[in-house]
Amino acid sequence: MKRKIISASVALAMILSASIILPHSENVLYAASVETIQETAPEFKIRNASCGRVSANLFWNGIPCDGYNVYIMTSGGYFRLASVNGNVNAYTVKNLAPSTEYTFKISAFRYDGEGRKISFETSPDYTLTTKEAPPSNEGFTSAEISKNVVRLHWKKVRCDGYRIYMLGSSGTWRSAKTVESEDINSYLIRGLEPLTTYTFRLRAFNYDNNGRRNFGKYSEDYVVTTKTAAVRPETVSGISATADSGSAALSWNGVKCDGYEVYMLQCGSWSLAKSISGKTSCVINLPDNSGDLSFKVRAYNLNEKGDRIAGGYSKTVSVKTGPVIEVRNGITYVDGILIANKTYSLPEGYAPGGLTAETVSAFREMQNAASKDGISLWIVSGYRSYGYQSTLYSNYVWRDGKAAADRYSARPGHSEHQTGLAIDVNNASSSFNNTAEAKWLAAHCDEYGFIIRYPDGKESVTGFKYEPWHVRYLGKDLAKKVTDSGLTLEEYLGIDSVYKK
Ligand code: DAL
Ligand code: ZN
Repeated sequence: MKRKIISASVALAMILSASIILPHSENVLYAASVETIQETAPEFKIRNASCGRVSANLFWNGIPCDGYNVYIMTSGGYFRLASVNGNVNAYTVKNLAPSTEYTFKISAFRYDGEGRKISFETSPDYTLTTKEAPPSNEGFTSAEISKNVVRLHWKKVRCDGYRIYMLGSSGTWRSAKTVESEDINSYLIRGLEPLTTYTFRLRAFNYDNNGRRNFGKYSEDYVVTTKTAAVRPETVSGISATADSGSAALSWNGVKCDGYEVYMLQCGSWSLAKSISGKTSCVINLPDNSGDLSFKVRAYNLNEKGDRIAGGYSKTVSVKTGPVIEVRNGITYVDGILIANKTYSLPEGYAPGGLTAETVSAFREMQNAASKDGISLWIVSGYRSYGYQSTLYSNYVWRDGKAAADRYSARPGHSEHQTGLAIDVNNASSSFNNTAEAKWLAAHCDEYGFIIRYPDGKESVTGFKYEPWHVRYLGKDLAKKVTDSGLTLEEYLGIDSVYKK
């Protein structure tokens, strides 16, 4: 709240405006002057004031006198705003600023023998604060229009509520609805005639301390024409979506309709994510770690009861929301999956010391199943320490050169064998390709929780040449999902595999 110390010239402007509109005042103008007034008995006082946004009505206890002077406190002292008759006990001060504190006092006077006003009693100070300025609003932003109803939408503003007005056929505005909440920003107007033009406008309001509505300015007029009847809108086409980790942006081709419903598939069930009118795009905020999400959109028209008549659903679009990458103790987990590739390395000290127990038991299960099919599987290379990988890699670089070695052997810290989750089966060389064992492994390893980690033709994605013998343990659920997707683990998780130096 501001404390207003007004200047003498502002006070003079108040006299000018106040004296014109006030029947009680004497309509006598006084030259701008500043007076010093004595404090006197408390019975003579400004009793109360009814206070507006830019004006205040002062009321006082009258005493026998010829008249009263009304003063406002200014930076230079008390300034006399007006003199009123002794039988008048009120005065309206105009031209005040909203949300501002002002101090007033009055004095009672008698005329002396020469007609001069002699003050003999002065009230204590009376301080008040003018009301807040009323809220403004930008009016209606869109409308859903049907045969007999219109749903109006507007932008929320800070206020206690809104009032919607409708222009009547006689040319007068009437209040159509008062909405008692800042948070409601649409309203259904019922009972309209088909094929008729209606004009609406909006005001926001705040309640004052006396429970009265303090309205802001009227919005611009908003004109709508009702339709003949609600028809089912066409099916939406051309839906597309992009996403980052926090939100998905959707757009689609518009059809003739009152609005659109956007549905989101999450955890196996579809739910209405948003209703939109007047636009063919929207942004949906995504829940944390939502993973992949799918969306579909349908258009609707409102029937005469305001119910939605929906068209068919669009095609479904899916978005990848970007992986959640966590590094704990130097080990990278992508969406919770431990990853070692050309991009993400393991610390030298990471040494599970062997294949994990789960990996071993999954391999045993697979081995048993294979043998029932007459296929014999065994481990030729399981866990490899950082140091061992270092020796292996150096030897290959010495033999084939660095560029060639990097296509089939991981640099130390980058080998999946250091995780204890990777196994080379039977024969880690190209002579394993297309063997009955290789075919069985490719066809069945996901059933036991493994994936072929470096598939054929995916060197640009995984960073390594085809290795039909190298399987990675992921657990049965994930291995099946990755295999069914036809993607490499990198593609499935949305990561790359490239040495950074
Ligand atoms: N042969 C794989 C890529 C490794 O060295 O880990
Ligand atoms: Zn391997």
